[in-house]
Amino acid sequence: MATASMLHRSLLCLTVLAAAAAAAQPRLQCLENPPELTAAGDGEAGVVVQNLGGFAAYVTGAAHSGRAIVLASDVFGFEAPLLRKIADKVGEAGYYVVVPDFFQGRPYNGDPSINITQWIMAHSPVKAAEDSKPIFAALKREGKSVVGVGGYCWGGKLAVEVAKTNEVGAIVISHPSSVTADDMTDVKCPIEILGAENDAVTPPRLVYQFVNALRQRPEVSSC
Ligand SMILES: *[C@@H]1O[C@H](CO)[C@@H](O)[C@H](O)[C@H]1NC(C)=O
Repeated sequence: MATASMLHRSLLCLTVLAAAAAAAQPRLQCLENPPELTAAGDGEAGVVVQNLGGFAAYVTGAAHSGRAIVLASDVFGFEAPLLRKIADKVGEAGYYVVVPDFFQGRPYNGDPSINITQWIMAHSPVKAAEDSKPIFAALKREGKSVVGVGGYCWGGKLAVEVAKTNEVGAIVISHPSSVTADDMTDVKCPIEILGAENDAVTPPRLVYQFVNALRQRPEVSSC
């Protein structure tokens, strides 16, 4: 059947073209499914403080708890109502929760004319982790003796970088971006990895590499 085989060939061709297009512009599921960014303030349990170690931050939860959680956002920043809702929920469990504005009021806004590769280079999560040291110092001064970090996408890399220092007791990373298996050889605290099944940036195959790297390090508990 000539037509069937031609159809088959052109489908193959389409697939190859689609793969080439995908390689040209990285497809980030995180970016294709942006969070709702309006309606901040509605029903929030917390407040925004202007100076937590030099950063504005949404703070919520048990103010007098000795246990704090820092939530590191994705590129859309700390105003996303869903992230604040999560922060409130974690707070209800007895933690003091802070969501810093790592982008100084200028998160990625989804503008298609922005080159996301360049944007991320200009907003390095590695540098942000370095810059976040005063946040951890401020939390210690406020009597928070145990501090954990939860990072989403961009914030996952930040969390991993912080986990290479002595600032935190544990981290959780959700569909992280830019994280490598090499990072896992330097993590010093317990780590939980929540990978997504459909994630071109950190596909399951890469998550298994993280797990394998961590298996070589029984002194670091992981799941
Ligand atoms: C985005 O920026 C990167 C790094 O400068 C560059 O390699 C890439 O070609 C740019 N992509 C587009 C679509 O302009």
